[in-house]
Amino acid sequence: MRQINASIDVDRRLAPQDLAGSKVHAAMLARQGIISKEDESGIQQGLDQIASEITEGRFSFDEALEDIHMHVEARLTELIGPAAGRLHTARSRNDQVALDFRLWVREACDRAAAGLEALQRALLIRAEEAADALMPGYTHLQSAQPVTFGHHLMAYVEMFGRDAGRLRDARRRMNECPLGAAALAGTSFPIDRHATAAALGFDRPTANSMDSVASRDFALEALAAGAIAATHLSRLAEEIVLWVSPGFGFITLSDAFTTGSSIMPQKRNPDAAELVRAKAGRLLGSFAQLVLVMKGLPLTYGKDMQEDKATTFEAFDALDLSLAAMTGMVTDLRLRRDVMAMAAASGFSTATDMADWLVRVLGLPFREAHHLTGRAVARAEAHGLTLQDLPLAELQAVDPRITEDLRTVLDPRHSAASRSSYGGTSPAQVRRQVEAWKARLA
Ligand code: ARG
Repeated sequence: MRQINASIDVDRRLAPQDLAGSKVHAAMLARQGIISKEDESGIQQGLDQIASEITEGRFSFDEALEDIHMHVEARLTELIGPAAGRLHTARSRNDQVALDFRLWVREACDRAAAGLEALQRALLIRAEEAADALMPGYTHLQSAQPVTFGHHLMAYVEMFGRDAGRLRDARRRMNECPLGAAALAGTSFPIDRHATAAALGFDRPTANSMDSVASRDFALEALAAGAIAATHLSRLAEEIVLWVSPGFGFITLSDAFTTGSSIMPQKRNPDAAELVRAKAGRLLGSFAQLVLVMKGLPLTYGKDMQEDKATTFEAFDALDLSLAAMTGMVTDLRLRRDVMAMAAASGFSTATDMADWLVRVLGLPFREAHHLTGRAVARAEAHGLTLQDLPLAELQAVDPRITEDLRTVLDPRHSAASRSSYGGTSPAQVRRQVEAWKARLA
């Protein structure tokens, strides 16, 4: 029973939140005349001492005392005697843990949103440098049209911006204080829930005492937002793995973010990227774990809910670490512009530009232009040439009205620069996106 019941190994991480909540609760009890001023000051001093014992590693944890709430109360009793017992007036461990956990998740959301913004800043620096660096844009992982590396990175800036937004939305919704719900029904003491809510930085107290102790959707929402962010991180991580692989060779990572092989001396493995790619599984797993704990639970509190913390802590630890590692890799990576530009020119990546030229200059319907371009691609393939290197005679065999002017648009650099529609890949558009995000993040 002791082993299955104890949660101290996990919820000791809630000590700062637990102490903050208790201090605010004690102050309110005294202001409302529920406990005396003397008892309150004893409680405050005791709680401060416990806080320093914990930060200095002098506090002793014992499984027999079950959880962090019991630990603090037991130590407070040792320190100040029976007055310690007055702290728990008009409070239950049910609203206490709901408060502590909410405070923790709120901080975790803030931390993750700040981590996402730091990553966005790192991406912006690289995107600005590489606003005109050509690379192949892919669909189906096949070269589709030339894009710029800056544009590719800015796609992630958009994704991480929405991720941070989801965490901020979740934070806004969770920012109601459950303290004072007591066990589940509220309390007969004349407490001031608005005061404790305000003192702890909440917008207001929760409106229903049963909901307050029974709900963990604030954590689910944060985990869901975190899982989506981790999914985006894993996509970028996967691209880094591809880009550093010899088959692509688009970028290099320094020894700071790679490891050698114990047997193959030539290897530089992108372990950090691979681990970020994998950690998305933890985030999604944590969401699944908690949603399954909550599913079908009758109101209000059930000890099942004690399982909410380990999984949430683990998830946000993984997210924090992934964000730090990704920010490090983005700053560390070096572009091989020549290799990328060569790849951007291969795979008939400017075929669409040829079709567009036939539409614009010869006035052909796009479908027909598409068909003629296909024939030009077939001729180039047969000769082992790129479209750009195909002799004029070969192009004119497809349509005699084609002139040397076509060759300009077959240049990948021209192709990328021409995609200057709003949100397009042209270096000018990329620089505009970068400036807009710099202003948003300032
Ligand atoms: N350790 C418990 C938890 O994490 C605290 C709440 C205990 N409440 C109770 N009624 N047993 O959920």
